Amino acid sequence: MSDLVRFGIAIDGELLERFDERIGEKGYANRSEAIRDLIRADLLERSADPNAPTTATLTLVYDHHVRELTEKLTEMQHGLGHHVVSTLHVHLDHDHCLEVIVLRGPAGVIEKAAHRIVATKGVIHGRLTLTGPLAHALDPAHHHEHGPHTHTHDHDDE
Ligand code: NI
Repeated sequence: MSDLVRFGIAIDGELLERFDERIGEKGYANRSEAIRDLIRADLLERSADPNAPTTATLTLVYDHHVRELTEKLTEMQHGLGHHVVSTLHVHLDHDHCLEVIVLRGPAGVIEKAAHRIVATKGVIHGRLTLTGPLAHALDPAHHHEHGPHTHTHDHDDE
């Protein structure tokens, strides 16, 4: 476990007010915990080690009227084979689909695949969130005050 470090932040007063309101809504007890979570979330967005095993969610919003887009996205997922664990599809409205794809594999492979999918013409929004074993690397002691995930178990990633 590493030592706690204190540091000061210069921030626009109005921005801080809005932030305090926001973290109040989210139920944070203090700014420190909220800022720590923001930093962790940011670090999770890119992996330090492309070979590190990871589990990730890719959230997409796309226009299913774009020619052959649905077929292309399905084909790309088939091409990823066992790296695609599960896909959730929601028909948002007349034009748009929401898809959440759970991916598992080496971080580098997952990130590359996700970027390729998001870059496909017709995909309006795409966001990859890396989780899984990477979370342990960021927080080795795993000492959250909140949340029920205090158990340990082995993952069978390759
Ligand atoms: Ni749909």
